[in-house]
Amino acid sequence: MLRIGILGLGTVGSGVVKILEKNSENIKNKVGTEVTIEKILVNNLKKERDVEIKKELLTDKVEDIINNSNIDIVVELIGGEQPAYDYIIKAIENGKSIVTANKLVIAKYGKRIFRKADENDVQVCYEGSVAGGLPIIRPLQNSLAANRIEKIYGILNGTTNYILTDMSKEKKDFADSLKNAQALGFAEADPSSDIEGYDAAYKITILSSLAFERFVDVNEVYVEGIKDIDIEDIELAHEMGYVIKLLAIAKNSSEGLDVRVHPAFVPEDHPLAMINGTYNCVYLHGDAVGQVMSTARGAGQMPTGSAVTADIIQVAKDINHNQREVQRMDSFLESNVIKIDE
Ligand code: HSE
Repeated sequence: MLRIGILGLGTVGSGVVKILEKNSENIKNKVGTEVTIEKILVNNLKKERDVEIKKELLTDKVEDIINNSNIDIVVELIGGEQPAYDYIIKAIENGKSIVTANKLVIAKYGKRIFRKADENDVQVCYEGSVAGGLPIIRPLQNSLAANRIEKIYGILNGTTNYILTDMSKEKKDFADSLKNAQALGFAEADPSSDIEGYDAAYKITILSSLAFERFVDVNEVYVEGIKDIDIEDIELAHEMGYVIKLLAIAKNSSEGLDVRVHPAFVPEDHPLAMINGTYNCVYLHGDAVGQVMSTARGAGQMPTGSAVTADIIQVAKDINHNQREVQRMDSFLESNVIKIDE
């Protein structure tokens, strides 16, 4: 049996708990052993939750998770910079593998975190940090690894895509559309990170670092959000045959790396123009594969929960495999090594 500790029981944390519960048999078969929740860190032990959870699993002390020798994997779903970063580092130092959906921490401190993980021989997985349910981190690490990636165009923020779609199709104004996105649980606690473009900037920083195999500094990314876009801009774009999308763009050329986030006019017949609501999209070009486009819901409880749980399964599988290898080696040594009497 493998035990996980979850830091945070907000929108995504609750989604992960639901998926682990609902698909427990299926997950057990994939991992080769049961994956159970040992503890969940919450701010308020008494708060009503939208997920059924045994009271004794909840704690308001992070030490119950990061210093807990029963726990193999720490799932960080608090978000934001601190204390999330410190918790991740301490958990790694205590030999825990990490699953996180924290784009800010991975974009800003990924290099330090991965080095620390290497030193401690543990894994860090972060599929949930970019584009919610859309598989893109592992595809860049694995399936597309043979390619030199030349450019990436992404719609990487569900809240702003939802707002722009709502303004364009329902003729709602910006403030109403933002309220809807917040009520549906897509927007960040402080939605300025969504509407000012920083959320998308963290995500394109992570994708560029992976795709172009170098550390991309988030402070070097040009960022412009959608807060100044009004219905008139959207209607004008429409009259000229365009839709306005918040694009995250990364291009690697002989002139260097160009990474930016800003609203852009996208021709109405371009595949990116058809990505609506909370759907995210990554449209990239690799020198061998050519164009690749994938789309999925990029925000919300279950899509992001899906990505985070997939990472838990992957890490749990690796830990289980390694533990079995060690057991196999122990029993081999036990039965096959000739003991020489002294
Ligand atoms: N606030 C983010 C978004 C959540 O709207 O895309 C997923 O990272």
